[in-house]
Amino acid sequence: MEDHLTVGRVAELAGVSVRTLHHYDEIGLVHPSARTAAGYRAYSAADVERLREVLAFRRLGFGLREIADLVDDPATDAVARLRRLRGLLLEQRDRAAAMVTGIDRELEARAMGIEATSEDQLRMVGAQLYETIGSAYPATRRTDPRIAASIWAALGDARTVLNVGAGTGSYEPADREVTAVEPSAVMRAQRPAGAAPCLDASAESLPFEDGAFDAAMAVSTVHHWHDPIAGLREMRRVAKRVVVFTYDASSTGWRDRFWLTRDYLPEFAGLLTDWPSLADLTRAIDGRAEPVLIPWDCADGFFEAYWRRPEAYLEEHVRRAVSVWTRVGAEAERRAVDGLREDLASGRWAERNRDVAALDTADLGLRLLVA
Ligand SMILES: C[S@@+](CC[C@H](N)C(=O)[O-])C[C@H]1O[C@@H](n2cnc3c(N)ncnc32)[C@H](O)[C@@H]1O
Repeated sequence: MEDHLTVGRVAELAGVSVRTLHHYDEIGLVHPSARTAAGYRAYSAADVERLREVLAFRRLGFGLREIADLVDDPATDAVARLRRLRGLLLEQRDRAAAMVTGIDRELEARAMGIEATSEDQLRMVGAQLYETIGSAYPATRRTDPRIAASIWAALGDARTVLNVGAGTGSYEPADREVTAVEPSAVMRAQRPAGAAPCLDASAESLPFEDGAFDAAMAVSTVHHWHDPIAGLREMRRVAKRVVVFTYDASSTGWRDRFWLTRDYLPEFAGLLTDWPSLADLTRAIDGRAEPVLIPWDCADGFFEAYWRRPEAYLEEHVRRAVSVWTRVGAEAERRAVDGLREDLASGRWAERNRDVAALDTADLGLRLLVA
């Protein structure tokens, strides 16, 4: 009995009322497996594990009946349910970040006397990250020919290629038969006329048969997936060859070397805490990782692209095309940009980053995973 927790202690730790716990017991959702000598409900480690799942699903807004079905589903185990929860929580975080961006825009517009349209208002509450920031994407995001050359070389002689998280179609090779998959309607709508056919689907559940493609590629997208490992395994399932352009979050070395995250936006590290290691990502496709050096004049405006052109980060349209700036929140963004602006004006940035000016390419943790 010493390893059991009393109902009062459980309520205190979990931040719920004892009445709630009694109710869960009465409806058979979380039944404490023991009683203390005084007759109080007592929770074992297994009871607590179940309660933790129930409360987490509850906080995500699930109804008690739905939760009972989820936690009693014989087809899933605790690990699968934790992964599901994690995905739902990340989705909720992204949705909140996207809503904050929407609200900031509306506040700015209102301050200038502009009323948000009904469509804009509805878009804000339905916000998914790319549904909100997606329209800013094409301003700076496009194929960089040198990175494309590495990706296309890794595709080898593949004739049929699946592009997962395809966005607006950057890096799709023109000389192969490409099928694209992209869950954001805003991104799909911005694919140029004549781009490869694009399906509304997610990496974690690809609507294709095993081995349907010669190769599957994914560029700058894996860090957005709810379950990167599941998505990579899906790519492996549907294609004989897999090529993924992503970054190595496990090495802090490059993060410390990149002046933007080191000196101005340390909050970036917080976005990577749950990110799988490069070894886990590579293992999921049974492949290898190669560094991709970023040219100083990279044509694709992703987060690291302007490492030798610091003034670019002062530009609103440059930042709006990169999800990192939305995810860290408006306050961190403002502080980072103000600090950088001051340091560029005072010469402090140039003084601190003398070595950067001498480089034509930099290793900033970007990697090509190939299997
Ligand atoms: C930074 S963009 C990259 C787009 C494109 N691959 C490129 O290189 O320009 C990331 C894309 O991943 C998509 N995405 C987000 N979650 C996804 C998921 N679970 N499965 C597939 N794509 C996803 C987003 O909608 C977005 O279009």
